[in-house]
Amino acid sequence: MVTSQARAAAGIDEARLWQRHVAMARLGARSDGGVNRQALSDEDIAARRTLIGWAEARGFACAVDPIGNLFVRRAGTEPGLPPVLTGSHLDSQPTGGKFDGAYGVLAGFEVLEALEDLKLPTRRSIEAVAWTNEEGSRFQPGAMGSAAFVGRMQLPALLDHVDRAGVRLGDALQATLAATPDLARRGLGFDVAAYVEAHIEQGPLLEAERKVIGAVTGIQGSRWFAVEVKGEEAHAGTTPLKIRKDALKAAMSMIGALETLMQDDSDTVRFTVGRFEVSPNSPNTVPGQVFFTIDFRHPDPAVLSRLGDRIEAVCREHARGCAVTVTPTFDAPPIQFARDIVQAVGGAAARLGLPHMDIFSGAFHDAKFIAEIAPTGMIFVPCERGISHNPAENAKPSDLAAGARVLAEVLAELAEK
Ligand code: GLV
Ligand code: MN
Ligand code: MN
Repeated sequence: MVTSQARAAAGIDEARLWQRHVAMARLGARSDGGVNRQALSDEDIAARRTLIGWAEARGFACAVDPIGNLFVRRAGTEPGLPPVLTGSHLDSQPTGGKFDGAYGVLAGFEVLEALEDLKLPTRRSIEAVAWTNEEGSRFQPGAMGSAAFVGRMQLPALLDHVDRAGVRLGDALQATLAATPDLARRGLGFDVAAYVEAHIEQGPLLEAERKVIGAVTGIQGSRWFAVEVKGEEAHAGTTPLKIRKDALKAAMSMIGALETLMQDDSDTVRFTVGRFEVSPNSPNTVPGQVFFTIDFRHPDPAVLSRLGDRIEAVCREHARGCAVTVTPTFDAPPIQFARDIVQAVGGAAARLGLPHMDIFSGAFHDAKFIAEIAPTGMIFVPCERGISHNPAENAKPSDLAAGARVLAEVLAELAEK
């Protein structure tokens, strides 16, 4: 007997899913083939409008919450029950690719379309969500929409965050919401029966193991910090080195010492200084100010505490007479996904004859936060050479469709529970 889950999986249309990616990648397209569609930008607004247009054409209801999380709903036969959610994010890194985030939203939407094509009812409603600002590249931190949804971040406290041009998040959010004035509004947060997010792996393991599906078991922890170093501007030609307060040299010394702190022969620690700004950035003025960010990750909470808690002290020890402020901007402990969902993903992959393996995520995802309120899991598909956060990010249409088939099976199953 062909189950309705198997029918849902068979309804996935690889060509349509690929075309949706091609269309979405035009919004914020970069000349190098990548995507720059940062959170709450005009490009993000265009992506939201496009998704809403596709949803309305299929008769799916759309709604938005106060932080801009966008929900596309295919109603179940018992619409009062908490829905099953799927999705990811439409915002990208400044030098992002076509798949990070967009895939999870489009795969979720493809499942809704497949179910609709088949006129296959589900008991619970299924909703495909585009969470706001997962990347955290324009406004820090990341995963804001999902974190606010579960109450882990408070919306009022986020509104005054500014981007590098000084634009307030509150203003960019208002402009985004105003761009779709007819959209139904929802409150922040509601009961969720389960959440399953599809994503490209963003690492090299599936490709190396020749697997098409990763059943994601959990996500490592992340701690972010913003470091401000204040020295004193001075004339480069006249000021003796001994009396300088050179913010750049202090920052370099801090980063060197942090590199030593984070030294790890097992190559498990992830330590990144991704933003570094020097002021006044003039060849003949001693730098008076530096701002840099730290992204530190590890799967083990004890290591996250031991090394993360040393960061501020190490910066102070290497301040070279400058003032230094270290501000934590994100603290997301490691999590394990619900065993049932990990097994459902592996089981669906097996039934579909897809080579699969369990995998742990080095990247964070919206699923990390939704896992706090509902049974949650993720499905990874390979991306070329594991490259991501890079315009060259690439994935095969057949792998994207395979992930969507697994998603369809799992969502159809969860929606009957
Ligand atoms: C998400 O983009 C991450 O940085 O892990
Ligand atoms: Mn992502
Ligand atoms: Mn990303």
